[in-house]
Amino acid sequence: MKTTIRTIQAKKERGEPIVMLTAYDYTSARLAAAAGVDMLLVGDSLGMVIQGYETTLPVTLDDIIYHTRAVVRGAPESLVVADMPFMSYQVSPEQALTNAGRVMQETGAQAVKLEGGAHMAATVQRLVQVGIPVMGHIGLTPQSVNQMGGWRVQGRSSAEADRIIADARALADAGAFSIVLELVPIELAAAITAAVPVPTIGIGAGPHCDGQVQVWHDILGLFSDFQPKHARRYADLGAAIRQAVGEYAAEVRGRAFPTDAHATHLTADLAALYAPAPAPLPESQVQTPMAKAA
Ligand code: KIV
Repeated sequence: MKTTIRTIQAKKERGEPIVMLTAYDYTSARLAAAAGVDMLLVGDSLGMVIQGYETTLPVTLDDIIYHTRAVVRGAPESLVVADMPFMSYQVSPEQALTNAGRVMQETGAQAVKLEGGAHMAATVQRLVQVGIPVMGHIGLTPQSVNQMGGWRVQGRSSAEADRIIADARALADAGAFSIVLELVPIELAAAITAAVPVPTIGIGAGPHCDGQVQVWHDILGLFSDFQPKHARRYADLGAAIRQAVGEYAAEVRGRAFPTDAHATHLTADLAALYAPAPAPLPESQVQTPMAKAA
């Protein structure tokens, strides 16, 4: 059965933890869906873990559309949320509407996510009015990493904490169906989760959120540039891949792969026709008639 924003809302009402994970392609989406993940996020984190940039800022709307299409094909029953990239929605609610509309029409995603609190409320309201479900994202908002001066925990002072709570309320009032809380202190995330009627999805925000989101590469040990404090490695696929690829390279070099089992023979008569001619003997071994007679 297809997961919808109602399914997610009902989980909050029942106190059932919500599981969200990023996905960027067909294969990972299929695997995550088969493992029972509730929501898939085509995050602009793809700028870092797929494209190799230092931040999420260079990601374009076309990048998000390309990856979201693949994820939706891999997980047609999942609730797929597409991240709105930097500068694709901040200019005006109308710009957000045009671009979020493109994402919905061209990808099959069920929702979009955008960063920002109270100042984005009018934009969220505009999208929701036309039927585009919106996930908010507050606390550390990676698209503002330059303004924030790095990847730092947000809401440590009471002024900051009050502002983030106000942001969460403004987003919920504007109609956001869910809100990501990134890198905020545990107690603040708990207070926000109690204060808003919509599910909170934490990342580096502690265990009291309604759900959790993690980056695919972080939990599987695929990203070695750095290990975020908020992530736990459930597998070391990076090491497994290095080992497997190393074995493959060694077998190709040692002519142990491929074997006949990995390809197809011609029928015997055709095989004879195409059999390489025996290599000519080196000059020194060629026997002239005279040499033969002697
Ligand atoms: O882009 C992303 O992957 C995200 C999550 C970290 C919430 O925004």
